[in-house]
Amino acid sequence: MECGTIGCEMGGADLDKPVRLALIPGDGVGPEVMAEALPCLEWARSRGRNIEFFSLPFGAEHYLATSETLPEGVFADVRDGCDAILFGAVGDPRIPDGRHAEEILLRLRQGLELTVNFRPCRPLVAGLDAPFDIEVFRENTEGPYCLQGSTEPGRAVDLAIHTEPAVRRLLQAAFLRARDKGCSLTLAHKANVLKHGHGLWLRVFEELRARHPGVTARPMHADALLCALVQKPGAFGVIAADNYLGDLISDLSAAFMGGMGVAPSLSWAPHRPFRCLALAEPVHGSAPDIAGKGLANPVGMVLSTALLFRHLGWEAEAVAIESSVSKALEDGARTLDLGGSLETAAMGRAIRGFLPLGHQQGIPMEKHS
Ligand code: NAD
Ligand code: IPM
Ligand code: MN
Repeated sequence: MECGTIGCEMGGADLDKPVRLALIPGDGVGPEVMAEALPCLEWARSRGRNIEFFSLPFGAEHYLATSETLPEGVFADVRDGCDAILFGAVGDPRIPDGRHAEEILLRLRQGLELTVNFRPCRPLVAGLDAPFDIEVFRENTEGPYCLQGSTEPGRAVDLAIHTEPAVRRLLQAAFLRARDKGCSLTLAHKANVLKHGHGLWLRVFEELRARHPGVTARPMHADALLCALVQKPGAFGVIAADNYLGDLISDLSAAFMGGMGVAPSLSWAPHRPFRCLALAEPVHGSAPDIAGKGLANPVGMVLSTALLFRHLGWEAEAVAIESSVSKALEDGARTLDLGGSLETAAMGRAIRGFLPLGHQQGIPMEKHS
């Protein structure tokens, strides 16, 4: 039976082969938050996890110095020689058209066919009065992100392309997740206006709904959904959306958790087209307004690393990192965005202070699922 559990993607992985990760810190706060994810990788290794990682320099500085964004040869090496990517953020005010960001981040998402972008959103500290547990399943490769269009005198066009295989992959993953989690599924759409593209989404959704009678699933106009989400976040479970709506919904949901600095994400390719199956990155961008000041919250990046561990089948490590983040916050550790005064590195240390020891002294290791 197909699995909707996050972390089943690597089932059958070869235990003897090291997991190979490419790290792309990128721009702005990207390298600052990546510096707090690195010790988590080293910690996993100290517990016996077979992991290799190396850093790639691509981002604004590299582009401005060399005119190179992501060379095709490097893309192919990552695609065929790595298992996953850990990504910081891209975006730099010196490159206002964002060309390098497109050619690095969108190239990876699209070229690796990472259809599913999973953006979970739940309270970081337990015991909030109004609990919520939202998981956004965002299609990650299509819609207006195909970057086709034109600017003419007095007229501008952006195309949004939706293909049935990608829509089906995303919705199938969302249905399986809602089924396995026992929660509702809501499709965000605007098929009342976007008759062609979102019409396709609705058709595939209705087909899968008939095949999953155990899942409480409903389509909802995205505008009405946003109002209901703000008023009653606890009423939502899995939310499926196209690339554009999913981008907006996931930033809004990030606000429930505490803001842009804390929201994690993981993208993956359910149909396993290449060796490199996943990319973990925080939901936030390069935050040029706070970059270089030690103000960035590393929680989104660290929690994305936990999602990556779960994807690799390393559930114990994923849980340990997630609970260390919660314990550090319960202990009062906060960066400026959460009303505290800790710098990025101090917040990273506070989190790691709650990790169990490595070298077989920590919690027991489980096998790959
Ligand atoms: P942003 O997410 O970079 O910043 C939005 C707000 O959130 C800012 O006030 C920022 O200070 C704050 N913020 C972001 N990350 C934070 C962190 N770790 N800790 C504390 N506060 C944090 O979005 P933006 O300002 O719209 O975009 C800036 C650049 O980043 C643009 O070039 C954009 O295209 C790019 N971007 C990249 C990604 C990515 O690489 N995945 C995602 C979003 C935006
Ligand atoms: C995100 C970002 C990106 C997106 C940008 C930088 C292209 O906002 O990862 O959410 O829109 O997907
Ligand atoms: Mn976004």
